[in-house]
Amino acid sequence: MLSGLTRAGALFGLLYPTFSLIALAKEPVRAGHGMVVAQEPIAAETGLRVLQQGGNAVDAAVAVGFALSVTHPVAGNLGGGGFMLIRLANGTTTFLDFRECAPAAAARDMYIGPDGNATSDSIYGWRSAGVPGTVAGLALAHQKFGSKPWKNLVAPASNLAAEGFILTEPVAASLRDDKNPLHQDPESQRIFLRNGKPFTAGETLKQPELAATLNRVADGGSDGFYKGETARLLAAAMTAHGGLITESDLGAYKVAERTPLEGNYHDFHIITAPPPSAGGIGLLQMMGMLDGTGYTSDGPDSAKAVHFETEAMRRVYADRSEYLGDPAFYNVPTADLLKPAYLAWRRGTIDPLHATSSEAVAPGLAKTAEARLRTWHESDQTTHFNVVDAQGNAVAVTYTLNNSYGSGITVPKLGFLLNDEMDDFAAKPGSPNMFGLVGADANAIQPGKRPLSSMTPTIITQNGTLFMVVGAPGGSRITTGVAEVIFDVLDFKMNVQDAVDLPRFHQQWKPDFLYLQNGFRPGVAADLTRMGYAIKPTDGVARVEAIVVKGRMLEGGTESRLHGKVAGY
Ligand code: DON
Repeated sequence: MLSGLTRAGALFGLLYPTFSLIALAKEPVRAGHGMVVAQEPIAAETGLRVLQQGGNAVDAAVAVGFALSVTHPVAGNLGGGGFMLIRLANGTTTFLDFRECAPAAAARDMYIGPDGNATSDSIYGWRSAGVPGTVAGLALAHQKFGSKPWKNLVAPASNLAAEGFILTEPVAASLRDDKNPLHQDPESQRIFLRNGKPFTAGETLKQPELAATLNRVADGGSDGFYKGETARLLAAAMTAHGGLITESDLGAYKVAERTPLEGNYHDFHIITAPPPSAGGIGLLQMMGMLDGTGYTSDGPDSAKAVHFETEAMRRVYADRSEYLGDPAFYNVPTADLLKPAYLAWRRGTIDPLHATSSEAVAPGLAKTAEARLRTWHESDQTTHFNVVDAQGNAVAVTYTLNNSYGSGITVPKLGFLLNDEMDDFAAKPGSPNMFGLVGADANAIQPGKRPLSSMTPTIITQNGTLFMVVGAPGGSRITTGVAEVIFDVLDFKMNVQDAVDLPRFHQQWKPDFLYLQNGFRPGVAADLTRMGYAIKPTDGVARVEAIVVKGRMLEGGTESRLHGKVAGY
């Protein structure tokens, strides 16, 4: 097979003359000690101050996580959940899964209406929220690895909430976007609009109720959220509005500490997200399928690279649709999905010159139930941040409310938004939910279960030394966006800033489109069209943030077109 691919590689060169790399060459931000990369500048600087005051990477990550809940309300959160991947300088790794879980009263068919169709209750309103995990996740991270007093790490956020912060245009523009669900909820309107009118950039947003909630967290740690006044008020509001989360759900919430998924790619060691993320498996499957294809010969923005990566993505997402869910509830065949022989077989089904139709690609493990056609689409608001400290400890966090502003509901008297993560479940196995997603039994709703995620926080080492810390928001495009930036750095040797700025692409099996970010030269799209791809232009594929370690220097990249910040010292 390899010789066939090599021959095909030569043919490619004839059909599609080698493209030169898009002229990016933007310098990354460099720092010699510590670095925070986050998607909102005030939060990034908050983390930087913690590092400069001698806090470690976990301390800084906790402070950034809380700060984003104030300054980046679209995705930063207390009422959502996420994943924290940690690699200490001594090589110890762990993965804190503080993903939301379904409340005890949740049921498999809770979002199916009288007509038998899935309703939008999994997206909007009180019933769309899973039990939040963020505060428990940040608290456990601090308990296990933190070095600074907890209160000092929560205080910057509560001060920002109490005293207010000056809105930048990106945050103001996001708040005024009347497509976001904030505009449907009276309490959200009261807080995030100024007397019913949008804030403008330069005005100060104060969030006194959120400050009070953060102060209870500062005083009581995790119990300051999951017990006492916060828990009582949240549960009472749930009851009043037909939501499901009870005080007992909150009291029972547990962070799952998991072993990260690990694998090798060339001389790099990949440490990434295990289930209930589909991201780590997808990333390692892509690596296994691309290895040996010679896909790099024409450059990262060539039709050849896009083609091979896309075909790997298609096969990854077909598998995901069938086999992945919360491992506490479903026996995820992780080892089978990553077997070299399986991935070599999958690789062999890639036609080097033509797109494969998704109709011809099914979930690939042997002896499965007959493959069903599925679509999988997620919306796009979440956030990611990376921290590396002067000792070389590294933290990658992706956390989320799910889509922009989550359910849109701000809990009265508590000041925080609730997630709508329940929509990441397959609301009705076998039929699309509101995102067009059709999932399998593996991801059906069950009480206490965590919904399947695409979030892919990843840390990469080389010869036992920290090399890269990376992750992204972007719904179902997270895994592919993160993978592309990793390939751009590892295989195409791009600097990290250029890698995150390079236009990306996405394929997710169903629907059978190749989403091509605007910015590719027209010739590439034309070549891909000739190869059989149905192209949909898109203005972005995930928003990737990364740190790469070059000798004694940290290099940070955040997409130039967005308002993230690399803060280092
Ligand atoms: O966990 C997941 O895969 C989704 N809830 C992430 C949603 C997301 O990234 C939306 N935004 N950019």
